Amino acid sequence: MTATVTVRKASTDDIEKLYDIIQGYARQGIMLPRTREMLEEQIETFVVAEFDNVLIGCGSLTRLGPDLVEIRSLGITQGYKGQGIGGKLVDFLVEEARKQQIVKVMALTYEVAFFQKNGFTVVPKDIFPEKVWRDCIHCKKQYCCDEIAVLKRLD
Ligand SMILES: CC(C)(COP(=O)(O)OP(=O)(O)OC[C@H]1O[C@@H](n2cnc3c(N)ncnc32)[C@H](O)[C@@H]1OP(=O)(O)O)[C@@H](O)C(=O)NCCC(=O)NCCS
Repeated sequence: MTATVTVRKASTDDIEKLYDIIQGYARQGIMLPRTREMLEEQIETFVVAEFDNVLIGCGSLTRLGPDLVEIRSLGITQGYKGQGIGGKLVDFLVEEARKQQIVKVMALTYEVAFFQKNGFTVVPKDIFPEKVWRDCIHCKKQYCCDEIAVLKRLD
């Protein structure tokens, strides 16, 4: 099935579906919520996976510093997991980072094994000071963060 899955940059036409996927996981506490306005403002940072013209996954790449980006909002809709689509999205995002000549791609996640399969290694969270000031201040778990930091170096 993965042969017919395509990954592309998102457009404003995708906002409603992106919102649904992210809200679904935000309700489960495994993703930070994004408003439609935020999605519109940040749409250029998003990529989507499609199968038969149906949007089945998404992810985004946020700049945290001169040499560091973070993968955020990575999610596959139920029924499509475990078929290589998350891996394709990560590959696409890593290529985007490479094009921007950024050497460090990180994520904060509960899905450590998935990221390790995609070439990331576990690192201490405190090596990412920029991250703390950008997004964690809006998170309910700011003072009790239980996510794991993973990093892929492209140099
Ligand atoms: C995490 C997520 C994006 C992975 O996407 P996916 O399409 O299911 O993953 P893939 O099929 O590309 O898996 C790639 C590899 O990782 C492995 N993998 C995926 N999820 C795994 C898990 N939870 N535990 C262990 N291994 C896992 C797969 O077995 C596969 O290994 P293989 O290449 O040896 O077969 C998806 O499960 C998801 O949407 N989860 C909920 C949202 C979430 O937690 N997002 C992460 C936020 S940072």
